[in-house]
Amino acid sequence: MKLWGGNYSTDPDRAFWNFNQSFSFDQRLLAEEVAASRAYVRALGRCGALPAADAAALDAGLEQVLAQARLEPERLALDAEDVHSFVETRLNEVVGDLAGQAHLGRSRNEQSVTALRLWIRATIDALRDALRGLGLGLVAQGRKGHDLVMPGYTHTRAAEAITFGHLAAAHAWPLVRDFERLGEARRRVNVLPLGSGALAGTALPLDREALAAELGFEAVSGNALDAVSDRDFVSEFVFCCAQVQIHLSRLCDDLIRFSGPEHGFVTLPEAFTTGSSLMPQKKNPDALELVRGKSGRVLGDLVALLTILKGIPAGYQKDLQEDKEAVFDAADTTLASVGVIGGVVSGLALRPEAMRAAAGTEGLMAAGLAVALAREGLPFRKAHALVGSLVGEAERNGESLLAAARRVLPQHSPAVAGRLDALFDPAQAVQTKAAAGGTAPAAVSASLDQIEARLR
Ligand code: ARG
Repeated sequence: MKLWGGNYSTDPDRAFWNFNQSFSFDQRLLAEEVAASRAYVRALGRCGALPAADAAALDAGLEQVLAQARLEPERLALDAEDVHSFVETRLNEVVGDLAGQAHLGRSRNEQSVTALRLWIRATIDALRDALRGLGLGLVAQGRKGHDLVMPGYTHTRAAEAITFGHLAAAHAWPLVRDFERLGEARRRVNVLPLGSGALAGTALPLDREALAAELGFEAVSGNALDAVSDRDFVSEFVFCCAQVQIHLSRLCDDLIRFSGPEHGFVTLPEAFTTGSSLMPQKKNPDALELVRGKSGRVLGDLVALLTILKGIPAGYQKDLQEDKEAVFDAADTTLASVGVIGGVVSGLALRPEAMRAAAGTEGLMAAGLAVALAREGLPFRKAHALVGSLVGEAERNGESLLAAARRVLPQHSPAVAGRLDALFDPAQAVQTKAAAGGTAPAAVSASLDQIEARLR
């Protein structure tokens, strides 16, 4: 059943009909469409636009449409134009011609955004739950490794000693921001468009505030033309997904390197790796590589959406139907990625020996040595140059930095020269970074506490 056609003399071209229909993908909005329609017919009854008995019959009929579609999913094979016409067609089978009254004064332009807002709102809640799970998984691993020393890297070159907990927290904090960003986006999603009509508003005495309250919306849209045109609630949500994926891709990249044989700081849970068809020794980090790769896909969804929105006039245009596959794909991909990475993170085995051995690389202590010299009175730039010259000298002589320091530093700072063993101990080096946000174990524990509090 088409919801239009009184002014037509021919049927739509078949190929165009298939091209035009959105039911194959927007049937995911069925529960939301029914919830919004039920609230709408009740509102029609309350304001006297429909007799109370009709409103009640439509409400019950809509409930039945959803229940039947759930019980008999083959009903979804119906050749409907979109989820909105599907519901009206099915409602017609249940309550007869009265079904047409469910559409009284209502446009699909407002229906499609109302259903999508309800769907995105629920998806935000699911994604925030998933992010909480992953963030707390990182916190748990961070607590296990809050005092395990390992090298920290800049430019992928070993830089200074850090603790494993510091690294875990560095990947958890971005997820806290994503979690909070989604919470803020939710407020802008949670606005009722229903009652906007096609673009000009409704002529019915609808109580939009009551309708909003019934559907759990926190506000009603302030302009009917904007309400049917607005898709920035969609692009903002997809941006949040893309940002999550980009954060995950960085975590994946670190885990791929640090679990590799060249580092061996962690072992990946076998259940999240795959073997090679040729090389029997392999356990490849496919889960991590896939999530890293899928970040490109979600970024593509965001670009697709913004490109669709660019350069269309105010009001509903069919271009806007293209929003759905992008947002569904972004949401599915991000939810699945967060879930898979959650499994990888919880299953990680830490390898303290490998971390400690790599953290013993003397170059990691060079910056700490320069700071120690400066704190004994040598201007920092001079101290930096002095330690730099020691590194060069050690390299040329084929000796260790510690040996070069023992030889040269007594002339410059007997106090520092007397503390070289401590300064070259990575466990003591991390203790010095005790200010908030630093890598000292106590600071890391405090940071992990904050993450946990923000996520709970
Ligand atoms: N299937 C459409 C969409 O998803 C619903 C709105 C159709 N409105 C219209 N005037 N053709 O955007």
